[in-house]
Amino acid sequence: MLALTEPIKANLLQPLWLLKKSGEVGLPPQIRAALRATAWGRDTADERQSMAAIEAVRQTLERSDRVIQFVDYGAGDPAETLDDGEAEGGVTSDRRLGDLARIASKPPFWGRFLFHIIRHCQPKGCIEMGTCVGLSAAYIASALKLNKSGRLMTLEGAPALADIARGTLGQLDLTCAEVRTGRFSVTLDPALEAMAPVEFAFIDGHHDEVATLNYLEQIKPHLADGAVLVFDDIAWSEGMGRAWRQIAAAYASVELRNVGLVIFRQTTQGSAASDRH
Ligand SMILES: C[S@@+](CC[C@H](N)C(=O)[O-])C[C@H]1O[C@@H](n2cnc3c(N)ncnc32)[C@H](O)[C@@H]1O
Repeated sequence: MLALTEPIKANLLQPLWLLKKSGEVGLPPQIRAALRATAWGRDTADERQSMAAIEAVRQTLERSDRVIQFVDYGAGDPAETLDDGEAEGGVTSDRRLGDLARIASKPPFWGRFLFHIIRHCQPKGCIEMGTCVGLSAAYIASALKLNKSGRLMTLEGAPALADIARGTLGQLDLTCAEVRTGRFSVTLDPALEAMAPVEFAFIDGHHDEVATLNYLEQIKPHLADGAVLVFDDIAWSEGMGRAWRQIAAAYASVELRNVGLVIFRQTTQGSAASDRH
């Protein structure tokens, strides 16, 4: 009998049960297969080796006492409201690299989730918003490498983090991934044009209600039919909860605790932003 690990119990057990109960309505078979692979750990030897290599890099990063300058163009704390100057110019602070790697990166379980989505959906053009030290990018790019096709462009505002992420991807020999430095307001459009038709996007930065809905509208024209979008931190703040509920009402979607997954269809596309109050 399979032993259930804490992350499965905490993150996927109830969502999987609800999906089964609802007949997994509207979910393509690749997504169902990816969710099951994440939950039950049915990895090939190659897959296990790729993920173990990423986790070894994570351990080194988490142990680092190096202090770096972190420019945050994001939403700050859940309860915080940045004024226009802070949102525009970013908030700069000195941070321990090990702390940033530990606090801001998706943990191994969710890395596996991204990895299996990419393995099962086989996307070509991929975008990530919010690179940090490059760990989720490494999971996405490692799966692309095993797929033997597809490219990732990952976007990071803080120059010091973007450099560290390049090191992470370089150590793992993930040449199918490229890190672009700068605010999303500057880097997103060129990235979308370079990667279109986008078949996968991981939106994991600037967790603000209006910004999230606007990014989706900006991404939409560049999406392939059937593209998979993963939104992180959908329960991070009340505003992110509202943004997610609008998105989930407009598209075929699955809610997995703090992570939301959307299947974009050209034919049934709605507008999450248009009915915003
Ligand atoms: C939660 S972290 C990303 C973690 C990463 N996806 C992982 O799991 O390994 C969010 C990142 O987005 C970046 N970010 C937030 N808002 C941004 C913006 N408006 N433009 C560019 N980068 C931004 C932050 O600097 C931060 O490194």
